[in-house]
Amino acid sequence: MKTMIIYDSKHGSTSHIAKMIGCELQFDVQLSDIQEPISLSDDFNQIIFLAPAYAGQLRKQAAAFLASHQETLLQKTLILVNTGLQFSEEKIAQQLQAIFPAALREHAELTAFAGSIIYPDKLNFFEKLILKKIFHDQRLEFPRHETDHYLDKSALDSIVQALNEQEGRTYST
Ligand SMILES: Cc1cc2nc3c(=O)[nH]c(=O)nc-3n(C[C@H](O)[C@H](O)[C@H](O)COP(=O)(O)O)c2cc1C
Repeated sequence: MKTMIIYDSKHGSTSHIAKMIGCELQFDVQLSDIQEPISLSDDFNQIIFLAPAYAGQLRKQAAAFLASHQETLLQKTLILVNTGLQFSEEKIAQQLQAIFPAALREHAELTAFAGSIIYPDKLNFFEKLILKKIFHDQRLEFPRHETDHYLDKSALDSIVQALNEQEGRTYST
């Protein structure tokens, strides 16, 4: 299957995660930043879409991309990945429901939450304040340095494994 990974990223966590997935796949993928013009041509039959949640929502450009390409995305094999900081399965399920349009979620082969890599130095004053409060509410120490501690590596492994297995099946038939 010809695959494109499309990502939205404000501070680099989601773009890093997109690249991690791309590196682990046993087939070629095209990586596309949502900021750049993207052509979802018929050449690509599988799309892996990654986007972070900010204040419980996708950023404008990610939401606009899904809305304007919904019909095309419904014709493709689709994987939806949200990055973010959540500390319970219930909140993750609620967020996935809230941020991805129902039609796309129902169509997607997989909808997953991948956690986040934290880059404290890239956050502005207000963003740092908000994240500090989230960490404080969870009784967690706010990380002083870049950390992948909040990355859900097992979710990433499952995504990669599912994609590699699917490609193996496609190749062998
Ligand atoms: C101001 C702010 C608000 C955030 N709001 C949420 C949120 O509502 N839900 C969530 O899961 N994560 C939230 N996060 C965490 C980010 O989604 C997470 O760190 C993400 O991986 C960042 O991706 P990026 O670096 O690619 O922009 C928030 C982070 C900041 C700084």
